[in-house]
Amino acid sequence: MDIMKGEVICIIGPSGSGKSTLIRCINALNDVQQGTITLEGYDVHDPKLDKLELRRKVGMVFQQYNLFPHKTALENVMMAPLKVLKEPKAEVEVRARALIKKVRLEGKENAYPGELSGGQQQRVAIARSLAMNPNVMLFDEVTAALDPETVKEVLLTIKELATDGMTCILVTHEMGFAREVADHIYFTDKGVIVEHGAPDTFFDNASDPRTKKFLGQIL
Ligand SMILES: Nc1ncnc2c1ncn2[C@@H]1O[C@H](COP(=O)(O)OP(=O)(O)OP(=O)(O)O)[C@@H](O)[C@H]1O
Ligand SMILES: [Mg+2]
Repeated sequence: MDIMKGEVICIIGPSGSGKSTLIRCINALNDVQQGTITLEGYDVHDPKLDKLELRRKVGMVFQQYNLFPHKTALENVMMAPLKVLKEPKAEVEVRARALIKKVRLEGKENAYPGELSGGQQQRVAIARSLAMNPNVMLFDEVTAALDPETVKEVLLTIKELATDGMTCILVTHEMGFAREVADHIYFTDKGVIVEHGAPDTFFDNASDPRTKKFLGQIL
């Protein structure tokens, strides 16, 4: 798998086929038994590599937003740069406010997660991840737990990020979104990538029977 700067990659495939495992390997949340992953010249699984450096380069957003419930949206976004990167508070706050605006949550800075919808919380989680200034963003089924109305607003946020040139790797079941936004689609089955291609080719002319079967079930 080769991913170029600024590309949007979607990974689709049946449950248990290794989609999460694949993207979790990219920021070393999972170890690899074989092979290598290189990120801007770094061997991700080199034990000598500083994991903090890697975590700064790679942001990750999960299905569960895992915001701190007793912290406001703004405080959630500010926390990692303050605690992990030890950046000055005033600077971090300016950046955090800009990010909250970017995910279209202006006015919700002082809201607690419990006062926000699922889609709003997920956008705070995206802003929180962006606060570390990552070069790559990983999204693992970030809209899977949301109501249909709020799915759209989260996808819009991701689409805007992609348009800004952020390298995005997404595991998603949103086929319309994948077709519209992805530069390249990967299909996994039973732990292997069985097929990949540009969206139009992939959705209209899949060649592997496993891909065809999967697309036949969901489209
Ligand atoms: N290539 C692989 N090598 C080793 N283990 C794998 C591989 N692919 C998947 N697994 C194992 O299979 C299980 C399911 O994988 P994973 O959670 O990545 O699937 P998934 O595609 O994200 O499924 P879901 O859609 O349900 O989230 C895990 O226990 C994982 O460790
Ligand atoms: Mg998964």
